[in-house]
Amino acid sequence: MAESTTNCRILITGECGQVGEALRRTLAPLGEIYSPTLDVLDLTDTDSIRKIVREFHPRWIVNAAAHTAVDKAESEPDLAFAINATAPKVLAEEARSLGAGMVHYSTDYVFNGTKKTPYVESDATGPLNVYGSSKLAGEQAIAASGAAYLTFRTSWVYGATGNNFVRSMLRLAAEREHLRIVGDQYGAPTWSFELAQLTAHAIAHTEQLAAQSHCSLVEAMLPLSGLYHATGAGETTWHGFAAQTISGWQKRKPELKLATVEAITTAEYPTAAKRPVNSLLDCSKLAATFGWHMMDWKDSLTRVLDELDA
Ligand SMILES: NC(=O)c1ccc[n+]([C@@H]2O[C@H](COP(=O)([O-])OP(=O)(O)OC[C@H]3O[C@@H](n4cnc5c(N)ncnc54)[C@H](OP(=O)(O)O)[C@@H]3O)[C@@H](O)[C@H]2O)c1
Repeated sequence: MAESTTNCRILITGECGQVGEALRRTLAPLGEIYSPTLDVLDLTDTDSIRKIVREFHPRWIVNAAAHTAVDKAESEPDLAFAINATAPKVLAEEARSLGAGMVHYSTDYVFNGTKKTPYVESDATGPLNVYGSSKLAGEQAIAASGAAYLTFRTSWVYGATGNNFVRSMLRLAAEREHLRIVGDQYGAPTWSFELAQLTAHAIAHTEQLAAQSHCSLVEAMLPLSGLYHATGAGETTWHGFAAQTISGWQKRKPELKLATVEAITTAEYPTAAKRPVNSLLDCSKLAATFGWHMMDWKDSLTRVLDELDA
């Protein structure tokens, strides 16, 4: 860790979420963490955002808060845009005026899913749902703010804590005999803890550049500032993800009778929000810039199942 990060102040939003919770633990060695709860910092209140940022005066703002309920967002677009677009814009404006670095997370759902190969950062976006549109608006507002920023687009986030697909599958597999899971949407599960580790690595890397070049954080970030795809390596479908989760759990718990899993089509499982068929993201830019190679999703799933079994 570069010397300049001693007592570096880091503001984390979304502290109770999957990524936020992992960030609080992972970024703690880098400096002083402030992660206000929702009752202290409600991101729909822009005056409160500005006040809290100015009072704490962070060197880094890490925005892990979001409206992540993809189907619910269809019926509450104003709220989704307030949290996913307006709040990141205000945070980025504050970061810019303080000379702080901003880290933000976006989603594979900014794409329409018609590409046959993994999406790269420069591919045209085309969200199919309100959540994706609101997250895209957030990305664009940060990019336009003039702040030094890193936006990590990720997908299918899960971990040992929080509301996520793995924990839902384990609960449902214990309650039911048979599960029917969508098998024609392709993507990559991503471990929340790895996103936090990546964030710590990117912050440390940038701080080191600033220290070595005797320049400001913003100057050091200029060549790095931008969008990065950051998802688990490999690919699967929701059905493949469910099957791997349940078979991995069955190995650990042979005494349990867990549900069988059948693949169904998207048409057989109608949802309020439309989802992309292909949401695979190419993470080569992340590897080339930060030397960070995301773990294979099956390896991280093994780690999470081990944690849940401990
Ligand atoms: N989850 C995924 O599969 C996924 C996929 C792609 C990208 N991402 C992105 O990854 C990032 C982290 O996602 P996650 O999975 O960690 O999400 P999460 O578990 O749903 O956590 C989101 C956090 O945001 C907080 N929040 C919601 N509304 C807020 C408000 N008005 N003011 C302040 N905080 C508020 C939530 O608080 P409460 O819990 O109290 O509501 C929660 O702590 C987000 O940017 C998300 O868009 C996630």
